[in-house]
Amino acid sequence: HTNLKKFPDAFFWGGSTSAYQIEGAWNEDGKGPSVIDMANHVEGVTDFKVASDHYHRYQEDVALLAELGFKAYRFSIAWTRIYPHGSGEVNPKGIEFYNNLINELIKNNIEPIVTMYHFDLPYALQQKGGWSNRETIDAFETYSKTLFANFGDRVNYWLTINEQNMMILHGDAIGTIDPNLENPKKELYQQNHHMLVAQAKAMKLCHQMLPEAKIGPAPNIVSIYPASAKPEDVLAADNFAAIRNWLYLDMAVFGRYNNVVWSYLEENGYTPTIVEGDMDILANANPDFIAFNYYTSQSVAESTGDPSDINHTGDQHITIGEQGVYKGHKNEYLKTNEFGWEIDPVGFRTTLREIYSRYHLPLIVTELGLGAFDQLEEDDIVNDSYRIDFLKKHLEQLQLAISDGVEVFGFCPWSAIDLVSTHQGSSKRYGFIYVNRDEFDLKDLRRIRKQSFYWYQGVIASNGDKL
Ligand code: BG6
Repeated sequence: HTNLKKFPDAFFWGGSTSAYQIEGAWNEDGKGPSVIDMANHVEGVTDFKVASDHYHRYQEDVALLAELGFKAYRFSIAWTRIYPHGSGEVNPKGIEFYNNLINELIKNNIEPIVTMYHFDLPYALQQKGGWSNRETIDAFETYSKTLFANFGDRVNYWLTINEQNMMILHGDAIGTIDPNLENPKKELYQQNHHMLVAQAKAMKLCHQMLPEAKIGPAPNIVSIYPASAKPEDVLAADNFAAIRNWLYLDMAVFGRYNNVVWSYLEENGYTPTIVEGDMDILANANPDFIAFNYYTSQSVAESTGDPSDINHTGDQHITIGEQGVYKGHKNEYLKTNEFGWEIDPVGFRTTLREIYSRYHLPLIVTELGLGAFDQLEEDDIVNDSYRIDFLKKHLEQLQLAISDGVEVFGFCPWSAIDLVSTHQGSSKRYGFIYVNRDEFDLKDLRRIRKQSFYWYQGVIASNGDKL
């Protein structure tokens, strides 16, 4: 582009977190246990009991976000604070906490963007089958109603389910599927169907109860590259894109199953049971926008038909293939971060263009970030220049996508403040604000502004002119 478009006025510059990764206070004030609280945590990494202690420090945290210049803050509500057992009695202390947090944000001119459910399903529901049980749809609908009724006077932006596609593709990682099942994939696609219906019901309810509010899904969407220009590789990439990305957004936006995915489900015996009325519910719900999380593109090759499709090379972040469908491929053009994740800013632009040209809905980026072992130096300095470089390169691509005509209304990278990584503990950091704790030593949990804090402050103050 010779003529770069500017970031829109009133752009939602912000950052993201999720309840179980930041709040701590895992069993305080009536909160019930979630599947995350009950999981056997990965050896050598922390659990989520204290996390960043945000539950007790939210005022200080919001003040820091305001100082940073945040226009919006994306956080999630812990279902188990509102309904300790997933359904039944509302816990007033839970309502009170989020009222306080939302009020604090509004006082500081920060728009709250609320994720209704970010991985932390109430354990009581899981014990009754979780998303395999249709009753969980009703529990989610009741929970949604409670959220809209209590917070809808102040919350204008709602995200239904965080990364539903990752929960289905990596079901065993979140503790919502029994790994010993004979056909876990069939069960996962049944759960998926129930989640899609639950999401559709929540979107409809939101529009009925809160005509001014906006609601959308929040999957993880990334461009899928073929390993080469070989037509069979291109076809494999197209198939994987349908299975990984479009299944979820086609349903949310068009209210129908993607045809490529449906035939894949049929061929493998994974089709879900659909009861009468489901397809109407799905067809009659519409999102107002698409929120999506992006970390890096993925690459796949044509299936070999044998188990080598699933490349367990020890490099866990290279796309895991599926036997007979596609083979995982490491992209030789991309560098990786300290955790082996590929870094692909151009793929971010491609992803934005793909989503927009497919659905023509406004987009908001609700996660994107660099996990790193940041070092706290003397005099409270954290020089995370690598994070600045990473975010700058992605913002340049975002501006290019905007210049391509893609409608984007916000950028909320992961994460606003250091928090506990979903799989790799608390020393894998993502935030603009350092939280002084180690994997097992909680230290003083004090907050320290990183270099990236000052850089992002300048970006926001200039509305993206000064990257
Ligand atoms: C996304 C999740 O999948 O990626 C976050 O929505 C998660 O909850 C983030 O923390 C980064 O992944 P990780 O494993 O590095 O924490």
